[in-house]
Amino acid sequence: MMHARTLTRASRPITKCTLLQATRFSSKWAKVPGGPPDPILGVTEAFKRDSDPRKINLGVGAYRDENGKPYVLPSVRESEKRLVSEKLDKEYLPITGLASFDKLAAELAYGEDSKPLKEDRVAKTQSISGTGALRIAGEFLYRMYPGKKTVYVPTPTWGNHIPIFKNSGFDVQHYAYYDKDTVALDFEGMVRDIKNAPDGSIILLHACAHNPTGVDPTQEQWRTLSKVLKEKDHLPLFDMAYQGFASGDAARDAFAVRHFVEQGHEIALCQSFAKNMGLYGERVGMFSIVTASPDERDRVESQLKITVRPMISNPPLHGARIAALIMGDAGMRSQWLAELKGMADRINTMRSTLRHLLVDEHGSKRNWDHITNQIGMFAFLGITPEQVSQLLRDHHVYLTKDGRISVAGITEHNVRHLADSIYKVTG
Ligand code: LMR
Repeated sequence: MMHARTLTRASRPITKCTLLQATRFSSKWAKVPGGPPDPILGVTEAFKRDSDPRKINLGVGAYRDENGKPYVLPSVRESEKRLVSEKLDKEYLPITGLASFDKLAAELAYGEDSKPLKEDRVAKTQSISGTGALRIAGEFLYRMYPGKKTVYVPTPTWGNHIPIFKNSGFDVQHYAYYDKDTVALDFEGMVRDIKNAPDGSIILLHACAHNPTGVDPTQEQWRTLSKVLKEKDHLPLFDMAYQGFASGDAARDAFAVRHFVEQGHEIALCQSFAKNMGLYGERVGMFSIVTASPDERDRVESQLKITVRPMISNPPLHGARIAALIMGDAGMRSQWLAELKGMADRINTMRSTLRHLLVDEHGSKRNWDHITNQIGMFAFLGITPEQVSQLLRDHHVYLTKDGRISVAGITEHNVRHLADSIYKVTG
């Protein structure tokens, strides 16, 4: 007979004592409720589970080439090739990231002649793409901003803005932005709500290619907004995730940021290189703040380090090197800007084709002008949640519940199925 201690767990006789232990030590996670899928990334998960050959993923904002395939920019491939040939080390970066990347990213946003850059009073830190920049903004502003801990975001806004700022401790309030009836900007409502916010509030602004609506203020309206925010002593916090995607021209898309800085605003800015360089998974971005002097910049930057260190220690190296090499080399930079324009142009062609098929071929009685009037990666179709469900269920077209489609996912091959499906569900 075997001694009890040598019995395996499975063959051990169940005694009253082991039963008691099992009930006393039930799993610590037994009461964890299952959460809902992410409103944007969950769409991709559902798309992957669908085996229908007609399926189209227009959920997440990720550029696809004319064959619907992920697109690695030739300038990025070239930059990687050069980096590999240099046999560089893989040491830690400083907490605020790759200095050459920070400098070039700031110049891309603020402009090379920007006064605060020349005067060395812009505090900067590399970030885990745009989301990471917003997280740093949340953590830093919560600790250091002297005003009320409230952030105002547009209605609607990118879904992740709200949890990002709530998780940092902020109260999140809304200002009017989009008018469902006119399918356009509610500029009056926007100005009214920003004026009504208590003085010194933090106002989050989409710098260009508003996500999800694709509706931006005009340059004239930005000028008015700059005055309104100045009068109210609000802090403009720009999220610029799509520089170059609104117009195909990176400098033109930075109009709002540069105008506010010229007008003396001490803006905070979140940048992403996910879309405009196609560096999605490399997580390349930057957070910066305009300050009043180099001494102030030094102090703010020291606090940015204290913010970043417990979050991620220091940022990743490879993507920042790719981006810095492209931006810093005249030849590669112009190649990249041409590729960026190519992506923006292909998106615009798809907008026109989709509108043309709906209006001219199907003879839809609805007005679809907004598809071509909106800019950037997304079109906000202005359809009901029920129509969105129908598109998903009956036509295998995947989009977010608010009726946003990523135009970057439309191709010559799938645009007919898309137009047929939209026509069928909207009657
Ligand atoms: C989007 O809105 O689809 C993108 O910004 C990707 C994301 O992370 O949500």
